Amino acid sequence: MRLLVCGGAGFIGSNFVRGRLAAGEDSIVVLDKLTYAGRRENFHDFESDPRFSFVHGAIEDSAAVAAALDGVEAVVNFAAETHVDRSISEPDAFVRTHAMGTFVLLEAARERGVRYLQVSTDEVYGSIAEGSFTESSLLDPSSPYSATKAGADLLVSSYYQTYGMETLICRGSNNYGPYQYPEKLIPLIVLNALAGDALPVYGDGLNVRNWLFVGDFARAIGHVLEHGSPGETYNVGGPDECPNIVVVRRILELCGRDESLISYVTDRPGHDRRYSLGSEKVRALGWSPTTRFDVGLEQTVQWYRDNAWWWEPIRSGAYREYYKRQYGLSLDGDSG
Ligand code: NAD
Ligand code: TYD
Repeated sequence: MRLLVCGGAGFIGSNFVRGRLAAGEDSIVVLDKLTYAGRRENFHDFESDPRFSFVHGAIEDSAAVAAALDGVEAVVNFAAETHVDRSISEPDAFVRTHAMGTFVLLEAARERGVRYLQVSTDEVYGSIAEGSFTESSLLDPSSPYSATKAGADLLVSSYYQTYGMETLICRGSNNYGPYQYPEKLIPLIVLNALAGDALPVYGDGLNVRNWLFVGDFARAIGHVLEHGSPGETYNVGGPDECPNIVVVRRILELCGRDESLISYVTDRPGHDRRYSLGSEKVRALGWSPTTRFDVGLEQTVQWYRDNAWWWEPIRSGAYREYYKRQYGLSLDGDSG
């Protein structure tokens, strides 16, 4: 299949492209704006593959979208602003990309009769104290990130209802694994632990997340693209849930550090306590996760240990200013 992968220079998108090319299934064009989170480094091992091409542009730019869609049979949209903390301090880009960007992509796909899969998140359902959300749970988002993602999902569904377009939505739980930008909990804590920097933990550290290895989510998206029913939404939850402080302690062990690095910091406003997704519907379609959290976390720490070339330029650049603004802490560590 010839696929357009929007946001394919980011964490999950680049893992998805890598997996599809390795399986020999597709030729792929990536359209990506290359925000701070989108990096050509994420293509390093497949950029010279003749089945791969890259268009630098935004999903809200209809001319860039039209050029990228030439000859394409399906669109998978990963393109998004993805960090809740940034959505609290600077929500503008979230509204532009999720509302206008999704609209422009949908219009272009509708004109060409192309199948469309929207990558979304468990955060659109909000927080749940017990049990798990299903696809028919109410949307009750709490942050500008999750609210604009929920809006995009509703627009996608309307294109199925109104125009009969072949749309699909995949809502994943918290992903982790190689190539994740170190603003998210796991890579941030891993890199700080390796360097001997303080580990910022929000609130009481007891917020719970449902962890999903990125390779498992990427496979689920491919599976839904091929086997899902148009108009349907599929929740893709990870096999394990874990309070943040337990995640941080496991990373400390894996990095050979002690708990003196933990630093409790002011909580995130509107911080969702717990996310949990039931995945029965996507399991019934034939997908299941293969990586338990303990195993995936160890592999992830090892990947960051082995790939300093990937993260050193991030950690020594503008990221330091972001980090200082966000946490009031600096990155000096015990390694300089
Ligand atoms: P990421 O921040 O690593 O990557 C996002 C990519 O989108 C980047 O390459 C960026 O340059 C690109 N992008 C941003 N705005 C764009 C625009 N206007 N036009 C074109 N490209 C643009 O994000 P990720 O973690 O890989 O998330 C990918 C998708 O998966 C998002 O839609 C996110 O909501 C969803 N999701 C993420 C998680 C998670 O835990 N990371 C979980 C479930 C769902
Ligand atoms: P994050 O990776 O930002 O994902 P999300 O908020 O979208 O689930 O955060 C995961 C959890 O970790 C969340 O409960 C917030 C918490 N957290 C910290 O305690 N410290 C941090 O420095 C970060 C980035 C997150």
